[in-house]
Amino acid sequence: MVFSDGTEQDLVDLLRKLGELALSMVAGDEGGTIIDHVAFSPTTIDHAQCGWFQMAPVSVCPSVQRMGIGSALIEAEIGQLRQNGACGVAVVGNPAYYERFGFTVLAGLAPLSKHDAQFFRSMVLAGEARSGTLRYASAFG
Ligand SMILES: CC(C)(COP(=O)(O)OP(=O)(O)OC[C@H]1O[C@@H](n2cnc3c(N)ncnc32)[C@H](O)[C@@H]1OP(=O)(O)O)[C@@H](O)C(=O)NCCC(=O)NCCS
Repeated sequence: MVFSDGTEQDLVDLLRKLGELALSMVAGDEGGTIIDHVAFSPTTIDHAQCGWFQMAPVSVCPSVQRMGIGSALIEAEIGQLRQNGACGVAVVGNPAYYERFGFTVLAGLAPLSKHDAQFFRSMVLAGEARSGTLRYASAFG
C-alpha cells in the first residue's frame, strides 16, 4: 500500500508559509543530512480549535526506512505535543503502522473527507475523547 505521493516537501513548505506548522522535528545523520521529518498542524473539530493536531506529513529518507527512525521520531514528537498541553492528535495513513503508537478509531470523530475515513486514526492526549468532524489545516486544501 502506498501512502506517499512524493510531494511531502511541498506540503511542509506550504504549512510553513501559511503559519500552520505547529510542531516540526527532524532527525539528521552523522553528516548533518536530514533523514526524517514529522510535522504537526492544528485542526478544528466542528469548526472549533480545541488543542487537536494532525500529524502529517511523516517522511523518512528511503535509504534508512524500516530501521526504527520513523517510530523514534513519532514517539518523541507525540511526547512533546503532550508536554505542550495538546489534547489529541489525528493521522491519515496505514493503520498497521500507526496503531502501534496508540492511534485508534475513536467513535464519533471523523475527518471531513470521506475519502480519508478508512485510514483516519486518532489518539487522545489529555481530557475527554472528542466527537465531531475534524478539519485539517488549510494547507491540506
Ligand atoms: C512510513 C514511514 C514514515 C515509516 O518510517 P520508518 O522509519 O521506515 O519506520 P520504522 O522503521 O520506524 O517502522 C518500524 C515498523 O513499521 C513497519 N512499517 C514501516 N513502514 C510501514 C508502512 N508504510 N506500512 C506498514 N508498516 C510499516 C516496519 O515494517 C516495521 O515493522 P516491525 O517493527 O514490525 O518490524 C517511512 O517508511 C516513509 O517515510 N515512507 C514513505 C512516506 C510515507 O509513506 N509516509 C507516510 C504517509 S501517511
